[in-house]
Order: sequence, then structure tokens, then C-alpha cells
Amino acid sequence: MSGRIVIVGGTGGIGAALARRLHARGAPLHLIARDTTRLAALAGELGASFATADVADATALRAAIEAAGSPLSGLAYAVGTITLKPLARVSPADAERDFRLNALGALLAVQAALPALRAHGAGASIILFSTVAVGRGFPMHVSIAMAKGAVEALGRALAAELAPEIRVNVVAPSLTRTPLSEGLTRNAAMAEAIARQHPLRRLGEAEDAAAMAAFLLGPEASWITGQVIAVDGGRGTLEPKP
Ligand SMILES: NC(=O)c1ccc[n+]([C@@H]2O[C@H](COP(=O)([O-])OP(=O)(O)OC[C@H]3O[C@@H](n4cnc5c(N)ncnc54)[C@H](OP(=O)(O)O)[C@@H]3O)[C@@H](O)[C@H]2O)c1
Repeated sequence: MSGRIVIVGGTGGIGAALARRLHARGAPLHLIARDTTRLAALAGELGASFATADVADATALRAAIEAAGSPLSGLAYAVGTITLKPLARVSPADAERDFRLNALGALLAVQAALPALRAHGAGASIILFSTVAVGRGFPMHVSIAMAKGAVEALGRALAAELAPEIRVNVVAPSLTRTPLSEGLTRNAAMAEAIARQHPLRRLGEAEDAAAMAAFLLGPEASWITGQVIAVDGGRGTLEPKP
């Protein structure tokens, strides 16, 4: 039985690239974000359904996911934050916001989608997004690393709980050119300096992470679950050449 794939954050850099990729292979889509104008434009282009919700509002998020109908063949949660502050400047509000938008929102999205994902039967797939800054420590990343660490733990625990019917995997990008990272990539000199810290000598593009997410959502990944897969130009594990 086929069903829609829900993308929470479906108008974002990575979410929209994923939506276009899935549309190209014929998957019916349901997009969720806050800005209705951007949602309606992309949904119109892709023949997708859409619903507006702020993931911080659990009731609205549930309603937006349920509006996708049942069954669902997949769910991607592509909402996130980049909070870069030294420890002394991280407020409780920063840490709570990072946890809420990255981790709790993902848990609530999966919870809301679960009956429809189960209704699909074997082969349904869930994708969450972490960051290179969980597996490797970077200064100024305490709040976002803590929140995304919870996402990786959530992904593994869910993969165990939802097997064998539903697969759950996490994509962990390094710095990727999207609206979220504009503050870091807008300045060409800064972007070039960060690119040099990657053994593959460039920043990520939305297509890099979207390609991995699309693969993990599809039948070719039918024996892959519980994994955190780096899409990071080597930054998480390799020293760049001098
Ligand atoms: N870009 C990077 O460098 C990078 C690096 C590592 C990990 N990641 C992760 O990759 C994922 C996708 O990131 P991205 O770079 O594609 O982000 P993005 O371009 O900022 O897109 C975010 C998407 O989520 C929606 N969104 C944001 N806040 C929301 C909220 N409170 N409620 C509902 N929807 C919300 C946005 O639409 P609206 O604004 O209309 O709501 C948009 O569709 C995130 O989990 C991010 O943490 C990104």
C-alpha cells in the first residue's frame, strides 16, 4: 500500500530539496511549516498537500500531520536551529528552544504520524536530522549539540521500538548552505575558511543531505535502520590536509 510522505520543514533548504527529489520519483507529499505563502507555492509546484503549524505547538503539529491522511509511507522531520554561543551566554530559553524545536518536536511528529505509518505496513521510514557537532566537539555548540544528541538517541530508541515495520535513521550534516546557515555562509571569507576545515574542501549543499534522506526513505535502504549517517565532507572523522 502506498501513502504520502510527510516533510515537517518541507519548505526549508534541505526539506524542499528532499521534496523535489521525492516528487521526481513519483512520491505523493504532505508539507508542513509555518509560512503559508511559501508552503502553498511549493505544494502547488509539486502537487502536494500541505498544512501550517508551529512545531512548538503540539496540538497544531498533530493536526497538521493528521491532515496528511492515512496510510503514510514516510516522515522526515527537517526543522532545526543553529545556536552558536559560548557556554556563559547560553540562556535556559536558548537551551529549551533548541531542545523543543529539534528533539521534542521530532518526538511529537513521530507520535502523531505513528498510526498512519503503521497502517502502511512494512517499509515505512522515518528520517531525523542531527549535526556533525554531536559526534565531534566544537566550541560554541553546547546548546545545539545537546539538543541534536537527543535527536540521535531518539532515532536509535525509535528504531528499536518500531522495528520491524518502520525503519528510523538520522542524517547528520556539517555546515550546509540553506536559509538556516545564512548567518555563517553569507560572508564569503568566513564560508571559505569553514569549507577548508572539511577534507572534501567545500560546504554542504541542500542536495547532499536531501539525497541521503531520499535514499533512506526508499526501498533500496530496506535493511538499514537505527543509523546516524554523516553527510559532512569528512569533517566529523577526518583531519583536513594542511
Ligand atoms: N543547514 C545546516 O548547516 C545544517 C547543519 C546540520 C544540521 N542541519 C539540520 O538539517 C535540518 C534542515 O535544516 P535546513 O538547513 O534545511 O533548515 P531551514 O532551511 O531553516 O528550513 C527549516 C524548515 O523548517 C520550517 N520551520 C522552522 N521553524 C519551524 C517551526 N517552529 N515550526 C514549523 N516549521 C518550522 C521552516 O519553514 P517556516 O519558517 O515557514 O516555518 C523551513 O521549512 C534541520 O534539522 C537542521 O538542524 C542543518
